[in-house]
Amino acid sequence: SGSATLIALVVGYLFGSIPFGIILTKLAGGPDLRSIGSGNIGATNVLRTGNRKLAAATLVGDMLKGTVAVLVAWHWLGGPQAALAAAIGAFLGHLFPVWIGFRGGKGVATYLGVLIGVNGWIALAFAAIWLAVAWLSRYSSLSALTASVLTPLLLWFVAGMHQAALVMAVLTLLLWVMHRTNISRLLAGSEGKIGQKG
Ligand code: G3P
Repeated sequence: SGSATLIALVVGYLFGSIPFGIILTKLAGGPDLRSIGSGNIGATNVLRTGNRKLAAATLVGDMLKGTVAVLVAWHWLGGPQAALAAAIGAFLGHLFPVWIGFRGGKGVATYLGVLIGVNGWIALAFAAIWLAVAWLSRYSSLSALTASVLTPLLLWFVAGMHQAALVMAVLTLLLWVMHRTNISRLLAGSEGKIGQKG
């Protein structure tokens, strides 16, 4: 029903808006992520603090909040429709968290997290594409941009999940918008590589 979908959107948002990068770096006594590297609150920028375990924990947290939101909505709020609403909510929550002045992250980990809840095989494909591009280029942003473009196509043509493909295409568009400064740097050849400080 409409109200279940709306509740799923709000529940998804509340999960998605937990900024694991900020919380974990603060707990570990690290610097404010927004004042180092790219200024982003995600795992890629946590890695620039030199703490690999913290970066991994940020990745897992920002992913799993999306997965949990989708699965909670699926089981308790009304199946596939609610699950997709929660996916949108969680992604928007990560991008625009109410707790830190709506200045959130760029959405890669949470995109993958909601995708795990939508279709585990396509999520595996996303991770494989991300790793392949990262291996070849050493650019975190380029890896995410590539994997997120292919995901809706895989959902549509391989998994036959048309509604999910359209929803993830919208999230891909948002992810690209959030990466606009990364895209400029990639085109200018000045994008930082993975683990590179600065
Ligand atoms: O969102 C992670 C990655 O795609 C970009 O992160 O910190 O290099 O802007 P960053």
